[in-house]
Amino acid sequence: MGVFDGKVALVTGAARGNGEGISRVIASKGGTVVLTDLSEKVTDTAKDIGCGAVGYVMDVCDYDAVKRVVDDVVAKLGRIDVLANNAGITCITPFLETTDELRDRTLKVLQNGVWNCTKAVLPYFLKANYGRIVNISSVTGPVVCDPYEVAYSMAKAGVMGFTRAVAVEYAARNITCNAVLPGYILTNMARETAERSKPGHADEIIGEIEKGIPMGRMGTPQDIGYLAAFLASDEASYITGIPVIIDGGNALPETNAVGGQK
Ligand SMILES: NC(=O)c1ccc[n+]([C@@H]2O[C@H](COP(=O)([O-])OP(=O)(O)OC[C@H]3O[C@@H](n4cnc5c(N)ncnc54)[C@H](O)[C@@H]3O)[C@@H](O)[C@H]2O)c1
Repeated sequence: MGVFDGKVALVTGAARGNGEGISRVIASKGGTVVLTDLSEKVTDTAKDIGCGAVGYVMDVCDYDAVKRVVDDVVAKLGRIDVLANNAGITCITPFLETTDELRDRTLKVLQNGVWNCTKAVLPYFLKANYGRIVNISSVTGPVVCDPYEVAYSMAKAGVMGFTRAVAVEYAARNITCNAVLPGYILTNMARETAERSKPGHADEIIGEIEKGIPMGRMGTPQDIGYLAAFLASDEASYITGIPVIIDGGNALPETNAVGGQK
């Protein structure tokens, strides 16, 4: 018996990285997973996961497309119990060089994407008097940030406000809405961030990042999958509107000198 037996979970940005990790963990616990992504690779990822997982090409920025997918999933599978809003892009640019277009693109994917998918799925949650929403925000913005992350930080902090507002509005309807705040997780996005920080030296930057993480390693998509799956399960039914940091202790140190730290 798995905690997601008989349940259907829709995951955005699931072709690879954290979305793939979330999909794999939910499928391993008995859920039927609907993987969605801008990339056509999503159908291969779904096939590889098996367990009835299906893939849809879907842009979270396009509300009509999102609604079409959600309606089709409910018509075919009869229900959606879990929405994991994970699709994302990064933006590493000095503030004064961040064009309005780049800012708008970042906000569109990271904020409107969460908005669109939640809006399309919520009517089904309300009909069922049941729903679990897990938003993949970030520590970047709500908790910490490095230089060149103004647009990304603004977007991810906004996702936290969205999470609390949806949580309180629908708490009485047995719908929870929580946020996962990852630190550095070894995915293509983290590599891209490292590459943009020092072109041609991504591995060196990743090594430097890992040195600063108290647990000494970056996280994995599976780490994110286990946390998202918990928040999406009935075991978390009394938790709502909460940001959960998952960063190997990275946001903890007050200094890098006291107590003999390197
Ligand atoms: N990797 C990290 O260190 C880290 C840290 C904190 C938060 N996050 C967040 O985790 C989430 C997943 O990131 P990742 O690291 O797996 O990145 P990734 O680049 O490996 O995967 C992101 C996926 O989202 C998809 N995507 C992008 N735009 C989309 C759109 N408009 N519609 C649908 N799909 C779209 C991409 O095609 C890709 O498959 C993001 O929201 C990211 O901000 C990642």
